Amino acid sequence: MKKAILTIAAAIMTIAAMAQPKLTKDNIDDVINAMTLQEKASLLVGVRSSLVPGAAGYTCGIDRFGIPVTVLADGPAGLRIRPTREGDSKTYYATGMPIGTLLASSWDTELVETVTKAIGEEVLEYGVDVLLAPGVNLHRNPLCGRNFEYFSEDPLLSGKMAAAYVRGIQSNGVGTSVKHFATNNQETNRLENNSIVSQRALRELYLKNFEIAIKEGKPWTVMSSYNKLNGNYTQQDYDLLTTILKKEWGFDGIVMTDWGNKEGTVKSAKAGNDLMEPGRQNEVDRIIAAVQDGSISKEELDRNVRNMLNYIIRTPKFNGYNFTNKPDLAAHAKVALKGAEESIVLLKNDNACLPLKGTEKVALYGVTSIDFVAGGTGSGEVNKAYVVNMEDALIKAGFTLDNTLADFNRTYVNYKKAENRLNHGWAQAKVKEIAVPLSAIHEQAAANDMAIYVLGRNAGEGADRNINGDFELTEAERDLIRDLSVEYHALGKKVVIVLNIGGVIETASWKGLVDAILLPWSPGQEGANAIANILTGKVSPSGKLPMTFPVKYQDHPSSLNFPYDWNLFHARGVKKDFEYTKYEEGIWVGYRHFATRGAEVSYPFGYGLSYTSFEYSTLAIKATADGFEATIAVTNKGSVAGKEVVQLYVSAPEGGLEKPACELKAFAKTKELKPGESQTLTLKVSNYELASFNEATSAWEAASGRYSIRFGSSVQDIRATAEFKLKKALSWPVNNVLSPER
Ligand code: GLC
Repeated sequence: MKKAILTIAAAIMTIAAMAQPKLTKDNIDDVINAMTLQEKASLLVGVRSSLVPGAAGYTCGIDRFGIPVTVLADGPAGLRIRPTREGDSKTYYATGMPIGTLLASSWDTELVETVTKAIGEEVLEYGVDVLLAPGVNLHRNPLCGRNFEYFSEDPLLSGKMAAAYVRGIQSNGVGTSVKHFATNNQETNRLENNSIVSQRALRELYLKNFEIAIKEGKPWTVMSSYNKLNGNYTQQDYDLLTTILKKEWGFDGIVMTDWGNKEGTVKSAKAGNDLMEPGRQNEVDRIIAAVQDGSISKEELDRNVRNMLNYIIRTPKFNGYNFTNKPDLAAHAKVALKGAEESIVLLKNDNACLPLKGTEKVALYGVTSIDFVAGGTGSGEVNKAYVVNMEDALIKAGFTLDNTLADFNRTYVNYKKAENRLNHGWAQAKVKEIAVPLSAIHEQAAANDMAIYVLGRNAGEGADRNINGDFELTEAERDLIRDLSVEYHALGKKVVIVLNIGGVIETASWKGLVDAILLPWSPGQEGANAIANILTGKVSPSGKLPMTFPVKYQDHPSSLNFPYDWNLFHARGVKKDFEYTKYEEGIWVGYRHFATRGAEVSYPFGYGLSYTSFEYSTLAIKATADGFEATIAVTNKGSVAGKEVVQLYVSAPEGGLEKPACELKAFAKTKELKPGESQTLTLKVSNYELASFNEATSAWEAASGRYSIRFGSSVQDIRATAEFKLKKALSWPVNNVLSPER
């Protein structure tokens, strides 16, 4: 009898287990078959939780199948969670790393992987499963408020940086979310703005960096953007999210929305947007109702559920990782320092003004020398334990500072911070420089060996920048540069400008007045120390510009279609650049425009000085089974060590589609070369990478003929050239979708 009861009990257990199997890597279909409609719909919508305070969002847990809640947190410059918790004496600070634009300025994918490996360790140890990064939208226009989070005006550099970023983060067994897919190239009216973009500009620029990131980085997730693209919300666009992203590019992760709650939940689910974040009950209800009335088929529902389960089984949460809440922040601070040191760009260095001896008596100007801009604001802001400011960094490096200025700056900064807290949200807190009386500058010039002026700019999510007093200098900044150059040059003393900014500013009108210009962008919590180490020559600058610095804002073709004036934003009834933005410039973005039209720039794409000089030699090109391989030797011809970034530009044969004068197709950075030392670099380009997109045939096409191969230290500074002959034309047809006329 007892045996019979045991047998029956075992049978019941088996049936029950079959009825609600615990999720494993091997039984996803069983779990799907056992889930109710309510459970399936719930899995496709985010939930609220306090698992990790300050995390941006969560995915739904279903206990009876052993499906855990998973944790999603920002952001590109480091993990963004709350640094303190009620009733908890521990702290939860994360490391403020260099912003995306500075990482891209390194042109060093290995460095980016090193920095993001450290970020990923903090993601893992603080109990987060996915970092909502990298932000990869192209720098279409200098005034986009979130350019600081993004990498470049060029899709290849942007895509390679994004792929490296993803690999570094995910090497820790946590996920990333490549965002914001796609054409989220302005903040103005970002929830509703309709980007109207030609298929060619889409394929060659605005999708190309995502394509590289997905194919070479293999991110766990992609975040669709808020905006529309050619009339459809991206999160509801089947052609974007399924036809191109999943079918053409082979993306096998999940797509999540950005943090909103649009009516079109059903369209999103059908389009291949697997997860709605942050998630609300009405989205679950919409999905259930749609399945019940047949608008969402069982296949579509189960497809998205399967994608979610395949995501969940990858997560540390599902795999029971015991996070410590104790990442090695001290080690990561060193990584933050190195990340900034390897990326800072030296724009000007007349008469080898830099490096300095490190013992000079310095008059340090600029409120940002005290109120240092380590990063941007919004979801990309990291709750850091500290930020080193320029004053502390220079003193630590051995300089003596003129104290009258520091006290004056500090008083002003505290006043402005208080005022900003009263009057502005995080994105509008602009740096307001203070005027320094000429008489004071006159005295300081006599009392000090040199001047360093840290000129700052904030940038942030939710707002685009302006031309006046933002892209262009304010009157106080202009006057200060003028007065410093007059007073210090009268005494044969130097003026050094440090651009602590989040996006491109005007430089042409004033750069002639000063002796050196250093561009650290917003370099993270250790960035000021990195600047000091470059100023003293402890580190030789090796950064290169990932975008063009134009002479005037209006030189960018996209300036004809960009919401540069806040007043317009608040004006009623304005549609252009608010309700819709027409990318009328097409592919003519950045150096593609300037290099082809021969338009003058202040600093070109790929430009950056070193404390030494390099010679390129023994160039060799050989055809491979798919494209070509180039090798080139780089020799340090100067007297100090340094690193060089070799950029490979290709000019396609004449005829057929109108093409840019040249396009970046590969790049490589040397190790640190001692004086006289050489290194041979190898750069590979595939036939597909040579192709341009032809709308008439809806295909990538590489024309037969002679391709001019140029090796440069910038897009303008070509050091060696060669040729590659493609014997027969090649074509890669793709789906004819996302037309602006659709
Ligand atoms: C924001 C941002 C996105 C961020 C998300 C979660 O609106 O657009 O980049 O990851 O919400 O904070």
